[in-house]
Amino acid sequence: MNQLTPDLSVKLGPLELQNPVMTSSGTFGYGLEFDELVDLNLLGAIVVKGISLKPMTGNPPPRIVETPCGMLNAIGLANVGLEAFLKEKLPKLRKFRTKVIVNIYGHHIDEYAELASALKGVDGVAALEVNVSCPNVEQGGMAFGVDPDASARVTEQVRKSTDKPVIVKLSPNVTDIRIIAKAVESAGAHAVSLINTLTGMAIDIETRKPKLANIRGGLSGPAIKPVALHMVYQVANAVDIPVVGIGGIVDYRDALEFFIAGARAVEIGTANFVNPRATLDILEGITEYCQQKGIHHITDIMATLGSNLHI
Ligand SMILES: Cc1cc2nc3c(=O)[nH]c(=O)nc-3n(C[C@H](O)[C@H](O)[C@H](O)COP(=O)(O)O)c2cc1C
Repeated sequence: MNQLTPDLSVKLGPLELQNPVMTSSGTFGYGLEFDELVDLNLLGAIVVKGISLKPMTGNPPPRIVETPCGMLNAIGLANVGLEAFLKEKLPKLRKFRTKVIVNIYGHHIDEYAELASALKGVDGVAALEVNVSCPNVEQGGMAFGVDPDASARVTEQVRKSTDKPVIVKLSPNVTDIRIIAKAVESAGAHAVSLINTLTGMAIDIETRKPKLANIRGGLSGPAIKPVALHMVYQVANAVDIPVVGIGGIVDYRDALEFFIAGARAVEIGTANFVNPRATLDILEGITEYCQQKGIHHITDIMATLGSNLHI
């Protein structure tokens, strides 16, 4: 008997992906680091580590600590900077079929716009993912992503400065994430991705000091999955643009939960540290699930929970 070959392709607005399994920014380097372990050509997309205009060394160590079912990180967005990314990383990434999405961040709205302009028309960059969980220097360091107006202004400026599809990555550290999602949708985002990490801390009771030099960090991993899933469900029912689900996805069952809740694609983060092949295992699991259930197109199960439930 012929085995069903499910169609896993999805669209995030103008961005077409061969399948909905992507890597999440900061957990998969620039993709190249995983080349020997993972056939990068099989991924839906690679989202690279957040890029800033200038190179950043990030926060002092310790900047990672393990927590029950997750981890806290305070890397501080260390990265090679735009110039080195374009010269050293992107030419190597172009050799792969997989779409490359560049995650960008700034401390001023102008920095986001400058990054978007610099990447305009650049071959091998399929889309931009805009990290708005970054301190807004003009507003006393409050993250852009907790303020609907600031999130909308960043989105608007990036849209004006680029010809690429724009995905805005939302912070969960807000009262109602739907308000931010609607604001960036109105400002022209082609899609939203969520969630970024949840702010947290840990204390060493022997030294009575915070375990992270930065005191606070971002919580990620399985511990945050139920929170992420609920937010994805809420946002998917609040906006008309596609939603990318992120947060604690470690296996194909987790990914399927996000699809059923309304996600059009998923990003795999912390799981890559435990199992570098997590993305491919998840892809395989999704394919087998579709085969077993007779699902011809992965989109057939997406958002099947509907919007009538009380949220
Ligand atoms: C070590 C580390 C570094 C990260 N760096 C970035 C980053 O540069 N830009 C960004 O938008 N998100 C960054 N994130 C957030 C992840 O992309 C993801 O949104 C979050 O970890 C939740 O997914 P997970 O539970 O699957 O890890 C980082 C996360 C971790 C753990």
